[in-house]
Amino acid sequence: NKKVYILAIESSCDDTSAAVLCNDEVLSNVIATQKIHEEYGGVIPELASRAHQQHIVPVVHQALAKANIDKKQLSAIAFTRGPGLLGSLLVGTSFAKSLSLALGVPLIEVNHMEAHILSHYIREEGVKKPEFPFLAMTISGGHTQIVLVKDYFQMEVLGETLDDAVGEAFDKSAKLLGLTYPGGPLIDRFGQKGNPKAFPFPKPRVDGLNFSFSGLKTSILYFVQRETAKNPDFVQENLNDICASIQFTITEILMDKLKKAVKQTKIKQIAIGGGVSANSGIRKALARAEEVMGWTTFIPQFEYCTDNAAMIGIVGYYKFLQEDFTDPSVTALARYKL
Ligand code: KG4
Ligand code: ZN
Repeated sequence: NKKVYILAIESSCDDTSAAVLCNDEVLSNVIATQKIHEEYGGVIPELASRAHQQHIVPVVHQALAKANIDKKQLSAIAFTRGPGLLGSLLVGTSFAKSLSLALGVPLIEVNHMEAHILSHYIREEGVKKPEFPFLAMTISGGHTQIVLVKDYFQMEVLGETLDDAVGEAFDKSAKLLGLTYPGGPLIDRFGQKGNPKAFPFPKPRVDGLNFSFSGLKTSILYFVQRETAKNPDFVQENLNDICASIQFTITEILMDKLKKAVKQTKIKQIAIGGGVSANSGIRKALARAEEVMGWTTFIPQFEYCTDNAAMIGIVGYYKFLQEDFTDPSVTALARYKL
């Protein structure tokens, strides 16, 4: 049984990450998060690609050093080809191509969404893995998808957002309340102290398994405007209840669609990924669904939920086994279907 060493690079959004895997085991997973975007309340693409340029070489060096392996031992270089911000993807793509040429090892392109899903197959001591077929829900600042996963590379998107991603819904709502970016974790923190039924917000009516979050943002905006016109301190005085109500509404939207997907596919194994899976309201709702509806849910450790290169590496490993290599003339793809 030969050992496969994969160096993986992720640069699709605002995190520069490099990881080294030995087969399905993570030896290192280094992530440089770009603080610069906090000042602007969102990711600025131009600044993101510039920061990737600064971070990529040190991050790769660190990943190799932490894994305690020499670059000459690498079996292949895996990288995120898309989807994401083009200028950001170009940095990782160009770097990966150059390094694979220099070392004379294969290049492996990875779809970022596929990686969020297959991150569940990173080896973790004592953690059980979903078995095919299962449903995957990827929820983050950039994505909201429900996917039917039939096999490692056989996936079907059952539903996705038609506008904002669920993390954006959290962050934009938080911004309306005057909270700093990214506001999702703050809504969670304040919301835990509030009454989730205090302020009912309407749920969008979207057919099938697709999502829409822009209407929620608008109704929160009008609600805040209306109430602050009556009482300028309304938000400060009711912050916990407002946050709890927003979190409750978003959780309901996600759970409604998941229940629908389970009904439609008769699959009760649900694998969650993306930064929003840290949310306590969503976690509670999933735990309840395990008890009440007999679901089995899977959530990887947080490091593998948010954008990271280890998940790119696990896909790289499975593609390596299939000798599914990428031609060095490949270009980054801002849009890249599953
Ligand atoms: O996966 P991620 O780190 O990056 C991408 O967007 O791909 O996800 C970040 C998103 C942000 O929108 C952030 O507000 C949200 O995840 N988030 C949360 C929580 N922790 C992170 N949203 C709600 N509750 C949380 N506890
Ligand atoms: Zn992501």
